[in-house]
Amino acid sequence: MRWTVTTGDISKLKSDLIIIPLTSEKQKGLSALDKATGNGLTKAASLFKGKLETTHLVPGGRSGADWVLLVGLGKAEEVSVESIRRCAALAAKRAKSLKAGSCTLKLPVDALKDLDCSAISRCWVEGAELALFEAGLCKSKKKKAVVKSWKLVADKKSIAKLRAGLREGESYAAGSLLSRKLVTLPPNILTPVKLAAEARKLAKTAGLKCTIHGAAKLKQIGAGGIIGVGQGSVNESKLIILETKTKKKNAKSITLVGKGVTFDTGGISLKPGQNMHEMKGDMGGAAAMLGAALIVSQLKMRVNLKVIIPTVENMPDGNAIKPGDVLKMLSGKTVEVLNTDAEGRLILADGLHLACKDKPDFIVDAATLTGACAVALGTQFAGTFSNSSVLAESIDKAGCDTFERSWPMPLTDEHHADIVSTVADIKNLGKKFGGASSAAAFLEEFVDEDVNWAHIDIAGPSWLDAALPYCAKGGSGFGARLIARTLQILTD
Ligand code: BES
Ligand code: MN
Ligand code: ZN
Repeated sequence: MRWTVTTGDISKLKSDLIIIPLTSEKQKGLSALDKATGNGLTKAASLFKGKLETTHLVPGGRSGADWVLLVGLGKAEEVSVESIRRCAALAAKRAKSLKAGSCTLKLPVDALKDLDCSAISRCWVEGAELALFEAGLCKSKKKKAVVKSWKLVADKKSIAKLRAGLREGESYAAGSLLSRKLVTLPPNILTPVKLAAEARKLAKTAGLKCTIHGAAKLKQIGAGGIIGVGQGSVNESKLIILETKTKKKNAKSITLVGKGVTFDTGGISLKPGQNMHEMKGDMGGAAAMLGAALIVSQLKMRVNLKVIIPTVENMPDGNAIKPGDVLKMLSGKTVEVLNTDAEGRLILADGLHLACKDKPDFIVDAATLTGACAVALGTQFAGTFSNSSVLAESIDKAGCDTFERSWPMPLTDEHHADIVSTVADIKNLGKKFGGASSAAAFLEEFVDEDVNWAHIDIAGPSWLDAALPYCAKGGSGFGARLIARTLQILTD
């Protein structure tokens, strides 16, 4: 969709649909539109009270549009960036069903004094773009986009901020949609090789350096975790590394590590068949990091960024790893594999060890790591484990800003004690309970003590069984916006 800002009288501009978000208080500056619609807005007032997430349609009359859509934002003092996203989503879906190719929009910036102008337009774009995502990526007849252009009408004083917000919103939406697309693609198409190709494509458009290691190189460097998990698959495992450096002096260095299991059957410890197709989304952490890299580069954030993505397919096979096998990891530590379905931690271990080598200021990993975390927190919250309060607080704040929320989870010496092995250094399976924490403890075994690190378990929110206001059911793309916002906070 194309987003532009202009000044002028909204009732005179030509478009298919005029959209007016309104709070429940009376709003100024709409008298020309009211007149053009034959007092349509005044007449609507008895039916439409501006309640959050309600709409009302008024005929366009002598205005430049066929219809005027009123969208409720609720009480002005209660409007948040999230309610703006939700209203935008609702408006965008109504615009689509009205087959409106072009929309003009007047955001009530004066009524929303507590919110920054740029945050209002940013979140409007996010909500609208994300709501119109089409999951039918493999349909033989491609659906054409209906809503094509949005024109924001604004006063001179707010135009610059609104425009800046639009650009930010477009980037945030693009990153999230990239992530959602990758999670939605079927696993016969999005293999590790294809994920690497997608990363290379992203690197090209976003101006990032891209290095991809294949099986031979992984063997040479001794990445036992990645090799082990991928050895049951006919699809070659890859290690993707993206990098970008800023010219800014004293810029922070941040490394992102994402779990890229393009399909998780469980391996020899095979998963039950029901809903197994959802495990095409087991590269949600990788998708989140790629989406975040897109946002960071488009917004030219001043950070030295590295993205490390180990990507594999976890299959049962004559050559697959078995329960009882011992792997020698990239760090040199040995791991007894007691369950081949606890594969994410095995590939992330190598990724995290590599990440520590250049001692970045912060390391953040994201992974659809444990069903236990999804059981504990549901689909609205990821779980965050961290050895750094600065990092944990930034992630928390970013979660509130983006509404990709996470909750702090415990990670203690006792969790480390749970993964001690009798034959090897550690094992990839904890006790019966607390599985999200023992998985995090496993990861921490591969993180140097002196680096700030956070692990975000997104197993719950990365796949939705039911739609949310601006996210259809299925792969959500969760994490791209959260991570990008975290980086913005850490580097501001
Ligand atoms: N990819 C799964 C975790 C998962 C489960 C993600 C549900 C999304 C939804 C992971 O590889 C896994 O299988 N974890 C096991 C670990 C167990 C064997 C210790 C789990 O959670 O059951
Ligand atoms: Mn698994
Ligand atoms: Zn998995």
